[in-house]
Amino acid sequence: MHRTHTCGELRIEHLNKEVTLSGWVQKSRDLGGMTFVDLRDRYGITQLVFNEEVDKELCEKARRLGREFVIKAIGKVIERSNKNPDMPTGEVEIIVNSLEILNESKVPPFTIEEETDGGEELRMKYRYLDLRRAPLKRCLELRHKVSQESRKYLDAQGFLEIETPFLIKSTPEGARDFVVPSRMHQGEFYALPQSPQTFKQLLMVSGYDKYFQVVKCFRDEDLRADRQPEFTQIDCEMSFVEQDDILKTFEGLAKHIFKEIKDVELPEFGLMTYDDAMKNYGTDKPDTRFEMTFVELNDVAQGKGFNVFDSVELVVGICVEGCAGYSRKQLDALTDFVRRPQIGAKGLVYVKYNEDGTFKSSVDKFYDHDALKTWAEKFNAKPGDLILVLAGEANQARKALSELRLEMANQLNLKDPNAFAPLFVVDFPLLDWDEETQRYNAMHHPFTSPKEEDFAKLNSDPGSVKANAYDMVINGVEIAGGSIRIHKKDIQDKMFELLGFTKKEAQKQFGFLLGAFEYGAPPHGGIAFGFDRLVALIGGDETIRDYIAFPKNNAGRDLMLDSPSTISDEQLDELGLNVKELVNQH
Ligand code: AMO
Repeated sequence: MHRTHTCGELRIEHLNKEVTLSGWVQKSRDLGGMTFVDLRDRYGITQLVFNEEVDKELCEKARRLGREFVIKAIGKVIERSNKNPDMPTGEVEIIVNSLEILNESKVPPFTIEEETDGGEELRMKYRYLDLRRAPLKRCLELRHKVSQESRKYLDAQGFLEIETPFLIKSTPEGARDFVVPSRMHQGEFYALPQSPQTFKQLLMVSGYDKYFQVVKCFRDEDLRADRQPEFTQIDCEMSFVEQDDILKTFEGLAKHIFKEIKDVELPEFGLMTYDDAMKNYGTDKPDTRFEMTFVELNDVAQGKGFNVFDSVELVVGICVEGCAGYSRKQLDALTDFVRRPQIGAKGLVYVKYNEDGTFKSSVDKFYDHDALKTWAEKFNAKPGDLILVLAGEANQARKALSELRLEMANQLNLKDPNAFAPLFVVDFPLLDWDEETQRYNAMHHPFTSPKEEDFAKLNSDPGSVKANAYDMVINGVEIAGGSIRIHKKDIQDKMFELLGFTKKEAQKQFGFLLGAFEYGAPPHGGIAFGFDRLVALIGGDETIRDYIAFPKNNAGRDLMLDSPSTISDEQLDELGLNVKELVNQH
């Protein structure tokens, strides 16, 4: 028998019991006549003791154990004289009478402890060792729990878990596809799904009116802290529902998960229109744990001879509570922050509303006390507050101010990891104008339904048409997104036309869906949660990588597998992709 107990299990009530433990040697300490070994497995750490006076040979053997050796030890549970209250097993230790080395280990390239000395790259390369560390283990345990609780909730609501294929034809979700060459049909390719979008809609046509799937999605896009090229969704779809039904059902899912896993009662989810989110927060995923909502100043700041403001579309600012004392250096640093190329503001105007009721601003030349007082009133500012103002083309100014708002929240520690501010952002525009290609893209995806009251504008003013699309946002993270779908063929045809597809192209790419819509498609809609993001949010992280067992790095590489990689000439030949061969043939 390899073990009677795990390394996290033994307590004072097990005293005098003969036990067998197996695990990895975390570390060993040789204190003269006694050798102590910390034995670790998934469940915890237990201290083993070897006493030279009792068994010299055994103690010798223990001394030779290296870090990460796999061993089996048999011994008696005794009370520790030197208890460790920080460890669940810290009241006991095992006095060992038999030791077997199950496997040796090379010295690991970094320490396998709570904190490690290994750099990011090294740990990615030896991911299987990093995964032995308790912080990563906690991340994967949390992930497991969130998926179990999701399934429990959805099952109880009558959802069926149905798998859909990975080798498919392209589904447009705004990113590039990963493609897989076909050996049997040379020159042809499968695409990996960016999401199961079209399949779940087909399942609605088939009558499976509540579907879900915890499913991998693949997107060839630029990576960020909260984006991986393959990631997981809790993908859901329902028939005979309206937007409200979906929002309620999935607010319920989020509440269930937070309650069961964190014992947190999420507040009622607010609704915010996309237009309000952009106007008040400059982003479609506002972090509403803190205030600093935008105030527009065009009416009070323009026409006073300050050229920078007079010539722009929007003058907009935030009021930062209690920061009138910011130094020159701090304000310069903020100016540098907004001028960074990725933020792109030209400059930053500040107004300090001093404790004594006076104002000090970077635009004193153009605005006197009374003028600045009107600004302060617009912000509801109090003495001691700092007003920060940006100006420019409206969208750019809002985007930059949104970044500045988050930066101020960071500086003031306003992002409370134990506070959760959930909301739905609704009424997204249907279409998004792409300057580069001079045509519309679908803001969500091409299957999203326009709002019925806007149908008439599809021809006359498509850019102003709103969609039945919604995002769930928690603490500034887009946790889920979905929409009510188009279920009528004529509207879907119209949508493809707006997106610049010819009838022939639409038929070629989406004929299967358009065809299905001719066989009784019910009204339907759905949502997909970014599962990795949800788990990371619950775990208190902005980066999703540690919540994925084997993630890719920022450059989309798997450093452990060294993938992507080249393949052999034979494989290329089989697939008809051998460029050398092709060149020779011509
Ligand atoms: P969407 O594209 O909004 O919608 O994706 C749904 C959610 O998936 C998460 N997400 C990601 N997470 C990690 N890495 C990525 N690269 C990544 N991309 C997206 C986000 C996002 O909110 N088929 C539709 C859903 C629907 O309409 O029902 C879809 O995929 O949290």
